[in-house]
Amino acid sequence: MEPFRFHLFICTQQKPEGVPSCSASGSFAVLGALDREIQARGLNQSGLNNRGLNNDVQLTTCGCMGLCDEGPVMVVYPAGVWYRRVQPADVSEIVGTHLHDGKPVDRLVWNDAPAMQAMSVEHGEKFRAAMAAREKAGMLPDRLDQMIRGNMPSRCILTALELDIFTAVGDGANAEQIGTRIHANARAVGMLLNALVALGLLSKSGDDCRNTPESARFFVQGCKDNHRNGLLHTANIWHRWSTLTDAVRSGTRIPIEREDTPEWTRNFIAGMQRNAKDRAPLVVKALGTAGVRRILDLGGGSGAYSIAFARACPGVQCEILDVPQVVPLTAEYVSKAGVSAQVRLRAGDMLQDDFGSGYDIIMLNAICHMFAEEQNRDIFRRAHQALAPDGRLVVQDFILNPDKTGPQQAALFSLNMLVATDAGATYSEPEYTQWMKAAGFTDIRRIKLPGPSDLIVGLVK
Ligand SMILES: C[S@@+](CC[C@H](N)C(=O)[O-])C[C@H]1O[C@@H](n2cnc3c(N)ncnc32)[C@H](O)[C@@H]1O
Ligand code: FES
Repeated sequence: MEPFRFHLFICTQQKPEGVPSCSASGSFAVLGALDREIQARGLNQSGLNNRGLNNDVQLTTCGCMGLCDEGPVMVVYPAGVWYRRVQPADVSEIVGTHLHDGKPVDRLVWNDAPAMQAMSVEHGEKFRAAMAAREKAGMLPDRLDQMIRGNMPSRCILTALELDIFTAVGDGANAEQIGTRIHANARAVGMLLNALVALGLLSKSGDDCRNTPESARFFVQGCKDNHRNGLLHTANIWHRWSTLTDAVRSGTRIPIEREDTPEWTRNFIAGMQRNAKDRAPLVVKALGTAGVRRILDLGGGSGAYSIAFARACPGVQCEILDVPQVVPLTAEYVSKAGVSAQVRLRAGDMLQDDFGSGYDIIMLNAICHMFAEEQNRDIFRRAHQALAPDGRLVVQDFILNPDKTGPQQAALFSLNMLVATDAGATYSEPEYTQWMKAAGFTDIRRIKLPGPSDLIVGLVK
């Protein structure tokens, strides 16, 4: 059976540095170009085009086919046409001539079946021999090695962000010029720049470095999609993760310097806003606004969720309760969003303060992981009292599986809370359900959201 008129398989296998592979010879760039060209020509939609032809073209990535020295390799089915050494510049011709007009591009076709078979078989034999030799020598598997060394690329990017290297690169500059701009040692800056080039975050010509399109878009101050401020929170959290060994020994966070400065708090809230601003409309959609008049947003941070509700529903009034040092920052975000009339701010402590009464929704977005079980149970009990009949308590968080070993991000984030809080952790769905039941909530449901965190919603009857 062949469900598509053309089905392309392009190898995107990645291999250790220095070993030939399709990804090393540019298959991801080819993949991107193919996807864009196929979409631009409308060939990926099913149905008949104006020439009466079925437009179905499917693009699929695949692993090594044993022809790595000739990569990027691509096969087009159902005819089984093999292409080798495909480059982005070839894509328009392949799509136009082969996928549109049905004629393979002869100059790129590889049809020497005996040679291809011999190469593939030899590759398989070499691969198995290499694996056996590594196994015998007791070498660390690549997967473990990469996980262990993952700190190096991460540290390079975070240091570059801390030093604002990408902004200092400007339209192109050398190590000495950048060193002067950021008040850092030119030799060391040069080493960092070279590593960033190796990581594909800068390009280099002669002594001058330039931002790649990605770095220019996401890391340079003043750009629309600049993530630097939010990512500086990740850089701050790095210092906490360095205390993990001692935190595991002691069972709680280890105090470090650098924290609770106004700059730390500003970066923290920027980091929260980076995560929340795109999720907030999804949460509003998932919960709906029918019958919602008053919302309490506990630990609202940047106010992203209250802002999204206020925008979605002019009749809704939100109240954000956050700590005194955060509320002025919240006020900036709320005012910038133009919803100050609908969002009231309250400085306080959700662990101590009276919540008030008559709310239709109480939100706990990314809050419960900061606290211990007993603190969360207490918040849930007081939230139940503060909600109106038919009111809902909404928890958004990383939710662990019942045995707490996954999803991976939720399990890792639990350690993030070990190093960052007195008694925080991530929790499982059965735990949240049990706490909500004990607080008096009914009709407790989990609502899946795209991304790493979900909602758990309980109702007041
Ligand atoms: C992880 S952030 C989540 C922010 C926001 N809900 C979001 O999802 O973007 C936690 C927020 O809770 C606030 N917070 C922490 N402890 C608090 C407390 N005891 N009382 C009130 N707010 C608190 C923090 O200042 C921060 O804004
Ligand atoms: S990596 Fe693509 S064929 Fe081997």
